[in-house]
Amino acid sequence: MASVVLKDLTKVFDNKFTAVNHIDLEIQDQEFMVLVGPSGCGKTTALRMIAGLEEVSSGEIRIGDRLVNDVSPKDRDIAMVFQNYALYPHMSVYDNIGFGLRLKRIASGGIWPFNTKRLYSEAEIDKRVQDAAAMLGLNSKLQNKPKELSGGQRQRVALARAIVREPKVFLMDEPLSNLDAKLRVQTRADLIKLHHRLGITTVYVTHDQVEAMTMGDRITVMSAGVIQQVGKPLDLYKNPVNLFVAGFIGSPSMNFAPVTLVPEGDKLIADGGSFRLTLPDDKAALASDYVGKSVIFGIRPEHIHDRALSLQIQSNADNTMTVDVDVTEPLGSEVETHFTTGEILLIARLDSATTAKIGDRMDVVLDMNESHLFDKDSEMAIY
Ligand SMILES: Nc1ncnc2c1ncn2[C@@H]1O[C@H](COP(=O)(O)OP(=O)(O)OP(=O)(O)O)[C@@H](O)[C@H]1O
Ligand SMILES: [Mg+2]
Repeated sequence: MASVVLKDLTKVFDNKFTAVNHIDLEIQDQEFMVLVGPSGCGKTTALRMIAGLEEVSSGEIRIGDRLVNDVSPKDRDIAMVFQNYALYPHMSVYDNIGFGLRLKRIASGGIWPFNTKRLYSEAEIDKRVQDAAAMLGLNSKLQNKPKELSGGQRQRVALARAIVREPKVFLMDEPLSNLDAKLRVQTRADLIKLHHRLGITTVYVTHDQVEAMTMGDRITVMSAGVIQQVGKPLDLYKNPVNLFVAGFIGSPSMNFAPVTLVPEGDKLIADGGSFRLTLPDDKAALASDYVGKSVIFGIRPEHIHDRALSLQIQSNADNTMTVDVDVTEPLGSEVETHFTTGEILLIARLDSATTAKIGDRMDVVLDMNESHLFDKDSEMAIY
C-alpha cells in the first residue's frame, strides 16, 4: 500500500494551456480519494500524471516514499481503470483478467527475449484470477467472451483485471459512466465494498457529485485546474469554503440570493427585497464585517419547509418567506418544488405531505441555522 502526494503539480499543454494549476494534495495510504469537478477542470490530466501517462510540466508526484516523476508507468505499481475499458473480444473473461499477469516478466541475464522469465506461475495466475472473479461475482462467466456479458459485467472484468495485479494504488477515471442508472448504483456499492476489503489506496475521478459524496473517504473539488477544497463529504456539504463548492456539492444545488445585511436592534437581517430573514446570533457575529453590505445568501433545498406542515423548526417572522409555486415534481419520498420570491428562483425539497401546487402562494420556513453567506466579490464563505 502507499500514499500518493502531489506537490505544486502543474500541467501546461502546448506551452499555453494550463490544465492543472499548482495543485497540492496528500492522499493517505488506504484512502479512497475522489477528484470531482465539472468537465474540463483537469481531473483526467491529474490522474494521468499520477499514472505516468502524461508528462509533468512542474512539481512532484510521490507514491509511497518514492518520487515517481521519471518512473515509467509500468514501474509505478498502479493499476488504472478507465471509462472506456477495452477488453480483448476474442479472449475469454478468464484470459482477459489474467492477461496482464501473463505479460509480467523479470529479466534474468542472456539475450532478450530469452533473458526474461515469467513473474507469475500458472498456478499463481489461476489463484488470483479465481479470487478476483469470486470477489466481483464473475465465477460463472469465466469461460464467456466479453460480447456475451452485460455492460456491468464487462466493467467488472475490467476491475478484476486491475485487482489481480495487486497494485499499490488504483486510479479510476469515471469507471461507471457507461453503465445505466441502476447498475451504476449497484457497481458503486460493489466498489465501496471492494475498497473496504482490499484497502488499496484509490484515486477516483468523476464529475458526478453523488458518486463523490457516497464513495469518497475524502473529496477534492476542482475547478479550472485549481483545487477548491479538500475534505470529508459531509464537511464539504456543511462547510463549503466558497460559492463554487457550495453550488457543486448537493443535489439539487444550494439556492443563492443576493441580500443586504441590515442591522435592526441587536439583530442582523438578510434583506432580499421580497423577503427578510433574521440571522441566528452566532452567525450574525461571524458576519459583523459585512453590516450594511450586499452579500450572497445560501440555503439548501432540504432546509426549506412547507409552513403548513408540522415542523421541527418553529415558524416566525424571522425565518419565513412567502413564495409563488412555479413547478412541483413529486418524487414519492419528497416533492421538489420550484418557486419564486421577487426575482429569485428557489428550489425546495418539501415533505411529500405538502399540498403545494402550481400557482399557489404559500409560506415556507427556512432553517436559518443551516444558512450560508458568501462574499459577493471574492465568493468566499463568510460562514
Ligand atoms: N492532450 C491535450 N492537449 C491539449 N489540451 C488538453 C489535452 N488533454 C486535455 N486538454 C485540456 O485540458 C483541460 C482538462 O482536461 P481533462 O481531460 O483533464 O478534463 P476532465 O476534468 O477530465 O474533464 P471531463 O470531466 O470532461 O473528463 C481541458 O480543457 C482539455 O481540453
Ligand atoms: Mg476526464
